[in-house]
Amino acid sequence: MLQKILNTTMVSPTKSVNIKVRKDAIKTSIALFVGLVFGVFIGLSFPALPLTKMNLISSTDHHKSPRIYSRHLRSHGHWISKFHKHNENTKIWIPTNPRGAERLPPRIIESQSDLYLRRLWGLPHHDLSIEPKYLVSFTVGYDQRNNIHDSIKKFSENFTIVLFHYDDRISEWNQFEWSKRAIHISASKQTKWWYAKRFLHPDIVASYDYIFIWDEDLGLEHFDAEEYLKMVKKHGLEISQPAVDQSSSYTWQMTKKRDNVEVHKEAEEKDGWCSSPPAPPCAAFVEIMAPVFSRDAWRCVWHMIQNDLVHGWGLDFALRKCVESAHDKIGVVDSQWIIHKSIPSLNKQGQADSGREPWEGVRERCHEEWEMFKSRMAYAENKMKLDI
Ligand SMILES: *[C@@H]1O[C@H](CO)[C@@H](O)[C@H](O)[C@H]1NC(C)=O
Repeated sequence: MLQKILNTTMVSPTKSVNIKVRKDAIKTSIALFVGLVFGVFIGLSFPALPLTKMNLISSTDHHKSPRIYSRHLRSHGHWISKFHKHNENTKIWIPTNPRGAERLPPRIIESQSDLYLRRLWGLPHHDLSIEPKYLVSFTVGYDQRNNIHDSIKKFSENFTIVLFHYDDRISEWNQFEWSKRAIHISASKQTKWWYAKRFLHPDIVASYDYIFIWDEDLGLEHFDAEEYLKMVKKHGLEISQPAVDQSSSYTWQMTKKRDNVEVHKEAEEKDGWCSSPPAPPCAAFVEIMAPVFSRDAWRCVWHMIQNDLVHGWGLDFALRKCVESAHDKIGVVDSQWIIHKSIPSLNKQGQADSGREPWEGVRERCHEEWEMFKSRMAYAENKMKLDI
């Protein structure tokens, strides 16, 4: 056995004459190493270590993998501790890496992602003919399929499409040709803010310049998404929504469509509603049915969404906290506008209770959530005690 190691040592590990110099260097270091090991073994009660173990300390192993070397010297505490100390020193620990990934070499880390659909074959860099720059999500039930089908046409191939399904009906959407390029996420009876919190994490959607988080009951006959974004960029809007047709059921003055302007950022409400300087709902305000966020604004808003307050009521009044100069950077686009059909589809997903219709319980919860959100915000800003 010992003879075998020595043979390995003598037989050149390399075959080419071109690297003869290196070969000689290796031979020298192997000889030194073997000598060193022998010396130590003799110094440290040699008989305690069976000779058979030594055959595993192959010289080539030593060069390839120090771990094998350490494993077979395990019966010598002195050597083991020395080896491990050396190992600690070479361990990667980069405090500036993302939390939990400090052991990784920084250049391998991908801390952000996208929702690009890829192929199972070919080269990765050929997967995408277009890298979508924008993302649109709709929270949908199958009953609204025709409206969604019409809406999707208003979003170019520059959009990643995400559908959040609250009614457990997904496969039926395959009747639409575009359905294959959409991402379908299904969870029973959840709201769009519930989905957005869980599936549109800012690190996951970091590739998109703008993110649309929309309801399913919008009429987009007078809307084109690319044209809309031209306005958003031109007017520097971080958070926006398309104006809502005048004839739609009640909306805030701020979101009502105006003629002959591209964008507006302020409105007059009923007496007592507008403060000075103007604040929501009279400025720095859009509603939650059809908001559009820049990447940076969404990163902030995502953090403000509460895990348990699924309806998101009150969020619209707080959006401005996420934008510096909110008065200038939150606005309503008039030149691309929508019709709010007010189909209470998610309300039907509520539960009838002691003689009350399903929608009544849902509406009640919406109002309660709004109150809770307001008091949490006030508490967080140290303006009051939290008494819920
Ligand atoms: C998609 O984006 C590219 C690059 O900005 C643009 O040239 C193209 O016109 C867009 N597509 C549509 C349909 O607007």
